[in-house]
Amino acid sequence: MSKFRVAISGDFKKPDGSAAFPDFDLSPLEQNPAVDYHYVAGNGVIRAADLEGFDALILLAPRIEPDSFPGDGRLAIIARFGVGYDTVNTQACTDHGCALAITPDGVRRPVAVAVITFMLALMSRLMAKDRLTRSGPPGWALRNQHMGVGLIGRTLGSLGIGNIGAEVFRLAKPFDMRFIAYDPYADPKIASSLGVRLVDLDELFGEADVLSISCPLNDQTRHIVNAKRLALMKPSAILINTSRGPVVDQKALTKALQEGRLAGAGLDVFEEEPNPKGDPLYGLDNVLLTPHALCWTDQCFAGIGAADIKAVLDVMHGRVPTGIVNREVVDQPGWQDKLKRYRQTFGG
Ligand SMILES: NC(=O)c1ccc[n+]([C@@H]2O[C@H](COP(=O)([O-])OP(=O)(O)OC[C@H]3O[C@@H](n4cnc5c(N)ncnc54)[C@H](O)[C@@H]3O)[C@@H](O)[C@H]2O)c1
Repeated sequence: MSKFRVAISGDFKKPDGSAAFPDFDLSPLEQNPAVDYHYVAGNGVIRAADLEGFDALILLAPRIEPDSFPGDGRLAIIARFGVGYDTVNTQACTDHGCALAITPDGVRRPVAVAVITFMLALMSRLMAKDRLTRSGPPGWALRNQHMGVGLIGRTLGSLGIGNIGAEVFRLAKPFDMRFIAYDPYADPKIASSLGVRLVDLDELFGEADVLSISCPLNDQTRHIVNAKRLALMKPSAILINTSRGPVVDQKALTKALQEGRLAGAGLDVFEEEPNPKGDPLYGLDNVLLTPHALCWTDQCFAGIGAADIKAVLDVMHGRVPTGIVNREVVDQPGWQDKLKRYRQTFGG
């Protein structure tokens, strides 16, 4: 093995060959004489033949299934761009002695900023006031009917206090709000260091003036925000979802918003993406809707890309990268052997 060979999924390039995400800086690979990188298949399920002879894969949208792994057993890391990995068969990675890494460091700040953006815009009635201004004097005359809601002493609640949920509280500190969260796996020490009171689900829904969702989508959280829980919320409260669409029963939420049982919502994610034609959410002026991309900034993509490249180069130098999903692989003798060989070849 003279070079460390990195595959990059082909969807990082547009059909015209230009970079899909120009802020993803590949120069640490380009400038490393010991690295050889190539683009491979960009859609569907990646085939084993495409990954033959590679040590690492930087992956965007294509799926990884058990038959994506070549017989040479060489692949040591798949670095997924972002933190979602429902497109990757994690067990198959472990079975083939391959680590799967995601990039919590790249999304933490950008998604938390997206939550704060929704909160500030909705609480200050930003969109309504923009419309009033554009309609000239008649709009100006109505401005006292669109009073915003001040934040001091109001309650910011979070469903989930992990990577992103905790960062939301860090960013919101100067607003002098009360902080509460529900998270069955929360670390009480982290919560207390952030000034967050851990509460039960009903309390979270009943007390929050701003309720932000930052939990994963799984069997326990699918439709955890449902009609019954929305009914516990204050009519003056707003709901923000930047996690995954199906965490919220969207029909129930739309109904609550239509009936004025909730003051507003900021939604970056939906049960169906893109939303179906004529989605009733479009008819509501108390919601802000963004196409699963409010966190997309130059810095977000640069940060995610940098985290992926760091994970790949860590493995190349025989180090265990952060953000590994299938932690059990770390103790496998086969994976440890790969790291040892990389260390011997490329230096630790
Ligand atoms: N909108 C976007 O572009 C975007 C980008 C990145 C991540 N996300 C989504 O944001 C969400 C949070 O990501 P993260 O990086 O903070 O994940 P994370 O795993 O670090 O944190 C999730 C937290 O949710 C908690 N949790 C698990 N089950 C729960 C339950 N039943 N009720 C309440 N809390 C529960 C976990 O204990 C954990 O603390 C995920 O759904 C992720 O897919 C969205």
